Amino acid sequence: MHTAIIPIDPLHPDLEIIERAAALLRDGALVAFPTETVYGLGANALDDQAVASIYATKGRPSTNPLIAHISHLAMLRPLTGCDLADLPNAVQQLVRAYWPGPLTLVLPRAGNVPDILTAGAPTIAVRFPRHPIAQALIAALGSPVAAPSANRSGHVSPTTARHVWDDLEGRIPLILDGGACVVGIESTILDMTVDPPRLLRPGGLPVEQIEHVLGMPIAVRERHAMPATQAAPAPGMSITHYAPRVPLLVFEGHDMAQVGRRVIAEIRERSEAGQRVGALITRDLLAEATAAGAVATVDLGASADLEAAARHLFAGLRQLEDQEVDAIVTGSFVGAGLALALRDRLWRAAGGAITTLD
Ligand code: TXA
Ligand code: MG
Repeated sequence: MHTAIIPIDPLHPDLEIIERAAALLRDGALVAFPTETVYGLGANALDDQAVASIYATKGRPSTNPLIAHISHLAMLRPLTGCDLADLPNAVQQLVRAYWPGPLTLVLPRAGNVPDILTAGAPTIAVRFPRHPIAQALIAALGSPVAAPSANRSGHVSPTTARHVWDDLEGRIPLILDGGACVVGIESTILDMTVDPPRLLRPGGLPVEQIEHVLGMPIAVRERHAMPATQAAPAPGMSITHYAPRVPLLVFEGHDMAQVGRRVIAEIRERSEAGQRVGALITRDLLAEATAAGAVATVDLGASADLEAAARHLFAGLRQLEDQEVDAIVTGSFVGAGLALALRDRLWRAAGGAITTLD
């Protein structure tokens, strides 16, 4: 299959291009498109054949349900059987505060939703993306769009059209190229079908902002604090998710200076042993990483700028694997806010193997 990449203005998308993409979705085909978090691989959520081809195209296990994306609150009805006003207060509060945005809510599902969309679950994950291209595409279809991240299953999530091309070229007819995603990591997923609501995946919306609106604490159970045998909180949240093709070494600890020294020492040792080492590193350590022998570096931004780190994390992992390094070395993030999601993604990209220095 020929894959077209069409550039499209991210703020004022050309409606002729959007219509062409929506026509493909109407025909049961797949279209990759940008959202504010990562690129999605879209299909008409209510067409079970089209949804089935998402799983086949990504190589995704059919036990891992998809998120349905909406562009209008009226689209809650075909998915949940309810209008917003019929849903619990907590859902209404979060929707008013953070939709559109990087927050996915797991809600009870309507009976007519294809089983394959939710992998048979009695719940459905719903997200209202903020990106104008995503909104325009869903609105043009006039119906919810199922979209996982547009990567081959298990690989790093895509934050540019080029990343999608690298994973899916020849497998889908169209990639809408709206430039780099501004958030850079996937949405936060919150299960609203249990009381209290349960965090299934930390993501682009910090959990503190959810707590602020709900006026209650949300339990955060960091994965590396759990026994390895414990079931994943969301289906498909397996440890090997997001993995780059080369080994990733992650160091973490509460003393950032100590973590930095350990990262630089690791780069030096491996380089001296003849390895080609890539460094995924904050700006303050960039020059030291090069001096220690790193053959390739990715600047994650100023060390306190977690938004910049989120924006550059996945792109950095892909850039370093493309440079065919033998290993990628990085330091993890401490504290709250987006650091929670960054730690989660690094932990999984490293296959659960993080060295803790505390
Ligand atoms: O930011 C995002 O959420 C991106 C963009 C494209 O919107 N999408 C995304 O989709 O990350 P995906 O398929 O890569 O991750 C969706 C996650 C999976 O871990 C899946 O198991 C979980 O959502 N999920 C979907 N439906 C669920 C449900 N009914 N209950 C619990 N978890 C669910
Ligand atoms: Mg994904």
